[in-house]
Amino acid sequence: MTLFDVYPLYDIEPVRAQGSYLWDHYGTRYLDLYGGHAVISIGHSHPHYVARLTDQLGRIGFYSNSVRIPQQTELARKLGELSGCEDYRLFLVSSGAEANENALKLASFHNGRKKVIAFTHAFHGRTAGAVAVTDNPAILAPVNESDHVRFLPFNDAPALEAAMSEAICAVIVEGIQGVGGVQVASETFLQTARRLCNQFGAVLILDGVQCGYGRSGKFFSHQFAGIQPDLITVAKGMGNGFPIGGVLIHPKFEAKHGMLGTTFGGNHLACVAAIAVLDVIKEENLVENAAVLGEYLRKELRALPGIKEVRGRGLMIGIEFEQPAEALRRKLLFEHRMFTGASGKHTIRLLPSLAIGKPELDSFLEAFETVLGSVNAGVAP
Ligand SMILES: Cc1ncc(COP(=O)(O)O)c(C=O)c1O
Repeated sequence: MTLFDVYPLYDIEPVRAQGSYLWDHYGTRYLDLYGGHAVISIGHSHPHYVARLTDQLGRIGFYSNSVRIPQQTELARKLGELSGCEDYRLFLVSSGAEANENALKLASFHNGRKKVIAFTHAFHGRTAGAVAVTDNPAILAPVNESDHVRFLPFNDAPALEAAMSEAICAVIVEGIQGVGGVQVASETFLQTARRLCNQFGAVLILDGVQCGYGRSGKFFSHQFAGIQPDLITVAKGMGNGFPIGGVLIHPKFEAKHGMLGTTFGGNHLACVAAIAVLDVIKEENLVENAAVLGEYLRKELRALPGIKEVRGRGLMIGIEFEQPAEALRRKLLFEHRMFTGASGKHTIRLLPSLAIGKPELDSFLEAFETVLGSVNAGVAP
Protein backbone atom coordinates (compact mmCIF):
# COMPACT_ATOMS: atom_id res chain seq x y z
CA MET A 1 0.00 0.00 0.00
CA THR A 2 1.17 3.57 -0.65
CA LEU A 3 -0.01 6.83 0.88
CA PHE A 4 -2.92 8.86 -0.48
CA ASP A 5 -0.96 11.82 -1.77
CA VAL A 6 -2.71 14.93 -0.42
CA TYR A 7 0.22 16.77 1.18
CA PRO A 8 2.96 18.64 -0.73
CA LEU A 9 6.11 17.70 1.24
CA TYR A 10 9.47 19.27 1.91
CA ASP A 11 12.26 16.75 1.44
CA ILE A 12 13.17 16.84 5.15
CA GLU A 13 12.83 14.02 7.64
CA PRO A 14 12.91 15.17 11.28
CA VAL A 15 13.92 12.35 13.62
CA ARG A 16 14.40 14.20 16.90
CA ALA A 17 13.17 17.42 18.49
CA GLN A 18 13.79 19.37 21.67
CA GLY A 19 12.44 22.74 22.73
CA SER A 20 12.33 24.97 19.64
CA TYR A 21 14.65 22.78 17.51
CA LEU A 22 14.28 19.76 15.23
CA TRP A 23 17.06 17.54 13.82
CA ASP A 24 16.79 15.65 10.56
CA HIS A 25 18.28 12.22 9.81
CA TYR A 26 21.57 13.83 8.73
CA GLY A 27 21.85 15.55 12.12
CA THR A 28 21.10 19.00 10.67
CA ARG A 29 19.39 21.31 13.16
CA TYR A 30 16.32 23.40 12.29
CA LEU A 31 14.77 26.25 14.28
CA ASP A 32 11.02 25.72 14.57
CA LEU A 33 9.02 28.92 14.17
CA TYR A 34 5.85 27.12 13.14
CA GLY A 35 5.28 24.29 15.65
CA GLY A 36 3.74 22.03 13.01
CA HIS A 37 0.68 24.30 12.45
CA ALA A 38 0.58 25.93 15.94
CA VAL A 39 0.60 22.61 17.77
CA ILE A 40 3.86 22.78 19.72
CA SER A 41 2.91 25.05 22.61
CA ILE A 42 5.40 24.18 25.39
CA GLY A 43 8.30 23.09 23.15
CA HIS A 44 9.14 19.71 21.66
CA SER A 45 9.66 16.77 24.02
CA HIS A 46 9.43 18.83 27.21
CA PRO A 47 10.76 16.59 30.04
CA HIS A 48 7.64 17.03 32.23
CA TYR A 49 5.39 16.17 29.28
CA VAL A 50 7.46 13.12 28.35
CA ALA A 51 7.51 11.93 31.97
CA ARG A 52 3.73 12.30 32.45
CA LEU A 53 2.90 10.49 29.21
CA THR A 54 5.44 7.73 29.77
CA ASP A 55 4.23 7.14 33.32
CA GLN A 56 0.59 7.05 32.22
CA LEU A 57 1.28 4.66 29.34
CA GLY A 58 2.84 2.22 31.82
CA ARG A 59 -0.38 2.28 33.88
CA ILE A 60 -3.36 2.53 31.52
CA GLY A 61 -3.42 4.25 28.14
CA PHE A 62 -7.06 4.02 27.17
CA TYR A 63 -10.50 3.10 28.27
CA SER A 64 -13.76 4.40 26.88
CA ASN A 65 -16.08 7.04 28.31
CA SER A 66 -18.09 4.41 30.16
CA VAL A 67 -15.91 4.49 33.29
CA ARG A 68 -14.53 7.16 35.60
CA ILE A 69 -11.39 8.83 34.22
CA PRO A 70 -10.14 11.19 36.96
CA GLN A 71 -7.59 12.72 34.58
CA GLN A 72 -10.56 14.35 32.79
CA THR A 73 -11.70 16.17 35.92
CA GLU A 74 -8.13 17.22 36.76
CA LEU A 75 -7.77 18.60 33.22
CA ALA A 76 -11.09 20.47 33.41
CA ARG A 77 -10.16 21.99 36.78
CA LYS A 78 -6.72 23.13 35.65
CA LEU A 79 -8.01 24.46 32.33
CA GLY A 80 -10.77 26.39 34.14
CA GLU A 81 -8.24 27.93 36.52
CA LEU A 82 -5.67 28.92 33.92
CA SER A 83 -8.13 30.22 31.33
CA GLY A 84 -10.37 32.09 33.78
CA CYS A 85 -13.34 29.99 32.61
CA GLU A 86 -13.91 28.19 35.95
CA ASP A 87 -17.70 28.04 35.56
CA TYR A 88 -17.65 26.48 32.06
CA ARG A 89 -17.84 22.73 31.51
CA LEU A 90 -15.62 20.70 29.23
CA PHE A 91 -16.41 18.19 26.48
CA LEU A 92 -13.32 16.41 25.22
CA VAL A 93 -12.65 15.39 21.62
CA SER A 94 -9.59 14.65 19.49
CA SER A 95 -9.22 17.51 16.97
CA GLY A 96 -10.14 21.08 16.17
CA ALA A 97 -12.69 20.17 13.51
CA GLU A 98 -14.39 17.80 15.91
CA ALA A 99 -14.50 20.53 18.56
CA ASN A 100 -16.23 22.92 16.14
CA GLU A 101 -18.54 20.18 14.88
CA ASN A 102 -19.73 19.54 18.44
CA ALA A 103 -20.00 23.25 19.23
CA LEU A 104 -22.33 23.72 16.23
CA LYS A 105 -24.41 20.73 17.34
CA LEU A 106 -24.65 22.03 20.89
CA ALA A 107 -25.75 25.45 19.64
CA SER A 108 -28.46 23.90 17.49
CA PHE A 109 -29.62 21.51 20.23
CA HIS A 110 -29.78 24.50 22.56
CA ASN A 111 -31.99 26.87 20.55
CA GLY A 112 -33.47 24.47 17.99
CA ARG A 113 -32.32 26.65 15.05
CA LYS A 114 -30.28 25.91 11.92
CA LYS A 115 -28.82 29.06 10.40
CA VAL A 116 -25.19 29.90 11.12
CA ILE A 117 -23.23 33.06 10.43
CA ALA A 118 -19.55 32.61 9.61
CA PHE A 119 -17.00 35.02 8.11
CA THR A 120 -14.95 35.50 4.98
CA HIS A 121 -11.58 33.69 5.05
CA ALA A 122 -12.64 31.67 8.10
CA PHE A 123 -11.15 28.21 8.66
CA HIS A 124 -12.88 25.90 11.11
CA GLY A 125 -11.87 22.40 9.93
CA ARG A 126 -12.75 19.74 7.39
CA THR A 127 -15.56 17.65 8.90
CA ALA A 128 -19.09 18.20 7.52
CA GLY A 129 -20.31 20.98 9.83
CA ALA A 130 -16.90 22.61 10.28
CA VAL A 131 -16.13 22.74 6.56
CA ALA A 132 -19.58 24.19 5.83
CA VAL A 133 -18.63 27.24 7.95
CA THR A 134 -15.13 27.39 6.39
CA ASP A 135 -14.79 29.94 3.59
CA ASN A 136 -12.87 27.86 1.06
CA PRO A 137 -14.85 26.32 -1.83
CA ALA A 138 -11.78 24.22 -2.78
CA ILE A 139 -12.19 21.97 0.27
CA LEU A 140 -16.01 21.82 0.23
CA ALA A 141 -17.29 18.60 -1.33
CA PRO A 142 -20.81 18.76 -2.80
CA VAL A 143 -22.00 16.55 0.08
CA ASN A 144 -20.92 19.28 2.53
CA GLU A 145 -22.72 22.14 0.77
CA SER A 146 -25.28 23.77 3.04
CA ASP A 147 -27.81 26.56 2.63
CA HIS A 148 -27.80 27.08 6.40
CA VAL A 149 -24.57 29.06 6.36
CA ARG A 150 -24.15 32.72 5.49
CA PHE A 151 -20.70 34.29 5.17
CA LEU A 152 -20.30 37.93 6.16
CA PRO A 153 -17.23 40.15 5.84
CA PHE A 154 -14.85 39.60 8.78
CA ASN A 155 -14.59 42.52 11.22
CA ASP A 156 -17.66 44.24 9.73
CA ALA A 157 -19.89 44.96 12.73
CA PRO A 158 -22.61 46.83 10.74
CA ALA A 159 -22.93 43.88 8.30
CA LEU A 160 -23.42 41.55 11.25
CA GLU A 161 -25.94 43.89 12.81
CA ALA A 162 -27.93 43.94 9.55
CA ALA A 163 -27.87 40.13 9.16
CA MET A 164 -28.87 39.08 12.68
CA SER A 165 -32.38 37.82 13.35
CA GLU A 166 -34.31 35.35 15.48
CA ALA A 167 -33.59 32.68 12.83
CA ILE A 168 -29.86 32.64 13.57
CA CYS A 169 -28.66 29.61 15.53
CA ALA A 170 -25.03 30.61 15.98
CA VAL A 171 -22.25 32.99 15.05
CA ILE A 172 -18.87 31.26 14.73
CA VAL A 173 -15.70 33.33 14.65
CA GLU A 174 -11.95 32.98 15.20
CA GLY A 175 -10.49 35.43 17.71
CA ILE A 176 -7.58 35.76 15.28
CA GLN A 177 -8.00 34.23 11.84
CA GLY A 178 -5.01 31.96 11.26
CA VAL A 179 -5.35 30.29 7.87
CA GLY A 180 -7.11 33.49 6.71
CA GLY A 181 -3.91 35.54 7.13
CA VAL A 182 -3.45 36.32 10.85
CA GLN A 183 -6.27 38.84 10.94
CA VAL A 184 -7.16 39.97 14.45
CA ALA A 185 -10.89 40.25 15.23
CA SER A 186 -11.40 43.80 16.46
CA GLU A 187 -12.67 44.33 19.98
CA THR A 188 -15.71 46.23 18.67
CA PHE A 189 -16.55 43.42 16.28
CA LEU A 190 -16.45 40.77 19.02
CA GLN A 191 -18.38 42.97 21.43
CA THR A 192 -21.03 43.58 18.74
CA ALA A 193 -21.28 39.83 18.09
CA ARG A 194 -21.75 39.23 21.82
CA ARG A 195 -24.46 41.88 22.11
CA LEU A 196 -26.35 40.68 19.02
CA CYS A 197 -26.22 37.02 20.07
CA ASN A 198 -27.70 38.01 23.45
CA GLN A 199 -30.38 40.12 21.77
CA PHE A 200 -31.49 37.43 19.30
CA GLY A 201 -30.93 34.27 21.37
CA ALA A 202 -28.12 33.05 19.12
CA VAL A 203 -25.06 31.18 20.39
CA LEU A 204 -21.64 32.83 20.13
CA ILE A 205 -18.94 30.26 19.28
CA LEU A 206 -15.32 31.42 19.57
CA ASP A 207 -12.95 29.17 17.67
CA GLY A 208 -9.78 29.26 19.74
CA VAL A 209 -8.25 26.22 18.06
CA GLN A 210 -5.30 28.20 16.68
CA CYS A 211 -5.37 31.52 18.57
CA GLY A 212 -6.22 30.03 21.97
CA TYR A 213 -4.21 28.37 24.71
CA GLY A 214 -1.99 31.35 25.47
CA ARG A 215 -0.77 32.00 21.95
CA SER A 216 -2.14 35.55 21.78
CA GLY A 217 -0.55 36.67 25.05
CA LYS A 218 -3.81 36.07 26.93
CA PHE A 219 -5.18 32.58 27.46
CA PHE A 220 -7.89 33.34 24.87
CA SER A 221 -7.58 36.14 22.32
CA HIS A 222 -11.25 37.16 22.77
CA GLN A 223 -10.32 38.12 26.35
CA PHE A 224 -8.78 41.29 24.89
CA ALA A 225 -12.37 42.30 24.04
CA GLY A 226 -13.60 41.40 27.54
CA ILE A 227 -16.38 39.16 26.22
CA GLN A 228 -17.62 35.75 27.38
CA PRO A 229 -18.52 33.45 24.50
CA ASP A 230 -21.16 30.73 24.94
CA LEU A 231 -18.87 28.06 23.53
CA ILE A 232 -15.09 28.10 23.07
CA THR A 233 -13.31 25.48 20.99
CA VAL A 234 -9.71 24.39 21.57
CA ALA A 235 -7.24 21.84 20.13
CA LYS A 236 -3.75 22.25 18.56
CA GLY A 237 -1.56 23.56 21.43
CA MET A 238 -3.74 21.82 24.00
CA GLY A 239 -1.84 18.53 23.68
CA ASN A 240 1.54 19.77 22.33
CA GLY A 241 1.26 17.10 19.63
CA PHE A 242 -0.94 14.53 21.33
CA PRO A 243 -4.32 14.70 19.54
CA ILE A 244 -6.84 16.33 21.86
CA GLY A 245 -9.47 19.04 21.51
CA GLY A 246 -12.33 20.36 23.57
CA VAL A 247 -15.41 22.51 23.81
CA LEU A 248 -15.67 24.86 26.80
CA ILE A 249 -19.39 25.12 27.48
CA HIS A 250 -21.13 27.95 29.31
CA PRO A 251 -23.24 26.78 32.27
CA LYS A 252 -26.49 27.80 30.54
CA PHE A 253 -26.23 24.68 28.32
CA GLU A 254 -27.94 21.61 29.69
CA ALA A 255 -26.15 18.26 29.31
CA LYS A 256 -28.18 15.14 28.51
CA HIS A 257 -26.77 11.63 28.43
CA GLY A 258 -26.06 10.61 24.86
CA MET A 259 -26.39 14.07 23.25
CA LEU A 260 -22.66 14.12 22.38
CA GLY A 261 -20.11 11.35 22.34
CA THR A 262 -16.79 10.04 21.05
CA THR A 263 -14.67 6.92 21.43
CA PHE A 264 -11.23 8.51 21.74
CA GLY A 265 -12.05 11.92 23.26
CA GLY A 266 -10.80 12.31 26.84
CA ASN A 267 -8.73 9.13 26.99
CA HIS A 268 -6.11 8.75 29.70
CA LEU A 269 -3.11 9.54 27.53
CA ALA A 270 -4.69 12.56 25.87
CA CYS A 271 -5.70 13.96 29.25
CA VAL A 272 -2.27 13.62 30.85
CA ALA A 273 -0.69 15.22 27.77
CA ALA A 274 -3.06 18.18 28.18
CA ILE A 275 -2.50 18.33 31.96
CA ALA A 276 1.27 18.39 31.43
CA VAL A 277 0.86 21.23 28.92
CA LEU A 278 -1.15 23.30 31.42
CA ASP A 279 1.36 22.56 34.20
CA VAL A 280 4.21 23.84 32.03
CA ILE A 281 2.27 26.88 30.77
CA LYS A 282 1.63 27.84 34.41
CA GLU A 283 5.03 26.92 35.85
CA GLU A 284 7.04 28.66 33.11
CA ASN A 285 4.70 31.68 32.66
CA LEU A 286 4.34 30.92 28.99
CA VAL A 287 1.32 33.16 28.37
CA GLU A 288 3.37 36.12 29.55
CA ASN A 289 6.35 34.94 27.51
CA ALA A 290 4.12 34.89 24.42
CA ALA A 291 2.93 38.44 25.15
CA VAL A 292 6.40 39.88 25.80
CA LEU A 293 8.34 38.09 23.07
CA GLY A 294 5.53 38.54 20.56
CA GLU A 295 5.59 42.29 21.15
CA TYR A 296 9.39 42.31 20.75
CA LEU A 297 9.28 40.27 17.53
CA ARG A 298 6.58 42.40 15.90
CA LYS A 299 8.44 45.60 16.78
CA GLU A 300 11.70 44.31 15.29
CA LEU A 301 9.92 42.99 12.18
CA ARG A 302 8.25 46.36 11.58
CA ALA A 303 11.70 47.95 11.39
CA LEU A 304 12.75 45.69 8.48
CA PRO A 305 12.48 46.90 4.88
CA GLY A 306 10.26 45.46 2.16
CA ILE A 307 7.41 44.27 4.38
CA LYS A 308 3.86 45.42 3.62
CA GLU A 309 2.34 44.69 7.05
CA VAL A 310 3.09 42.88 10.31
CA ARG A 311 -0.04 41.63 12.12
CA GLY A 312 -0.98 39.53 15.10
CA ARG A 313 -0.94 39.21 18.84
CA GLY A 314 1.48 37.38 21.10
CA LEU A 315 3.27 34.62 19.23
CA MET A 316 0.76 34.44 16.37
CA ILE A 317 2.29 36.68 13.74
CA GLY A 318 1.59 37.34 10.06
CA ILE A 319 4.14 39.11 7.83
CA GLU A 320 2.56 40.23 4.57
CA PHE A 321 4.43 41.11 1.38
CA GLU A 322 3.41 42.72 -1.90
CA GLN A 323 5.08 39.81 -3.70
CA PRO A 324 4.55 36.05 -3.10
CA ALA A 325 6.41 34.91 0.03
CA GLU A 326 7.23 31.31 -0.92
CA ALA A 327 10.76 32.13 -2.13
CA LEU A 328 11.55 33.80 1.20
CA ARG A 329 10.25 30.80 3.12
CA ARG A 330 12.31 28.39 1.02
CA LYS A 331 15.45 30.44 1.63
CA LEU A 332 14.75 30.48 5.37
CA LEU A 333 14.25 26.72 5.33
CA PHE A 334 17.00 25.52 3.01
CA GLU A 335 19.70 28.16 3.62
CA HIS A 336 19.05 29.10 7.25
CA ARG A 337 17.31 25.92 8.47
CA MET A 338 14.23 27.64 9.86
CA PHE A 339 10.65 26.42 9.62
CA THR A 340 7.96 29.06 9.03
CA GLY A 341 4.36 28.79 7.82
CA ALA A 342 2.22 30.59 5.28
CA SER A 343 -1.29 32.04 5.03
CA GLY A 344 -2.14 32.26 1.36
CA LYS A 345 0.56 33.32 -1.11
CA HIS A 346 1.71 36.64 0.35
CA THR A 347 1.85 36.11 4.10
CA ILE A 348 4.43 34.31 6.23
CA ARG A 349 2.87 32.93 9.42
CA LEU A 350 4.93 32.51 12.59
CA LEU A 351 3.59 30.21 15.30
CA PRO A 352 6.58 29.23 17.45
CA SER A 353 6.40 27.42 20.76
CA LEU A 354 5.24 29.72 23.55
CA ALA A 355 8.48 28.77 25.33
CA ILE A 356 10.75 30.13 22.60
CA GLY A 357 13.54 32.42 23.86
CA LYS A 358 14.85 35.80 22.72
CA PRO A 359 18.12 34.31 21.37
CA GLU A 360 16.12 32.09 18.98
CA LEU A 361 14.03 35.07 17.84
CA ASP A 362 17.18 37.13 17.34
CA SER A 363 18.74 34.44 15.17
CA PHE A 364 15.54 34.37 13.12
CA LEU A 365 15.54 38.17 12.77
CA GLU A 366 19.16 38.11 11.60
CA ALA A 367 18.45 35.40 9.02
CA PHE A 368 15.27 37.13 7.90
CA GLU A 369 17.07 40.42 7.35
CA THR A 370 19.66 38.63 5.18
CA VAL A 371 16.96 36.88 3.18
CA LEU A 372 14.98 40.10 2.71
CA GLY A 373 18.17 41.89 1.70
CA SER A 374 19.01 39.35 -1.01
CA VAL A 375 15.48 39.39 -2.39
CA ASN A 376 15.21 43.21 -2.27
CA ALA A 377 18.58 43.49 -4.01
CA GLY A 378 17.20 41.34 -6.80
CA VAL A 379 19.32 38.25 -6.11
CA ALA A 380 17.40 35.35 -7.61
CA PRO A 381 15.59 33.60 -4.73
C1 LIG B 1 -9.04 28.11 13.66
C2 LIG B 1 -9.03 26.65 13.34
N1 LIG B 1 -10.12 25.92 13.64
C3 LIG B 1 -10.16 24.60 13.39
C4 LIG B 1 -9.10 23.95 12.81
C5 LIG B 1 -9.17 22.48 12.54
O1 LIG B 1 -8.38 21.77 13.43
P1 LIG B 1 -7.95 20.24 13.11
O2 LIG B 1 -7.02 20.26 11.96
O3 LIG B 1 -7.33 19.78 14.42
O4 LIG B 1 -9.22 19.52 12.83
C6 LIG B 1 -7.95 24.67 12.49
C7 LIG B 1 -6.79 24.02 11.85
O5 LIG B 1 -5.92 24.64 11.28
C8 LIG B 1 -7.91 26.07 12.76
O6 LIG B 1 -6.85 26.82 12.45
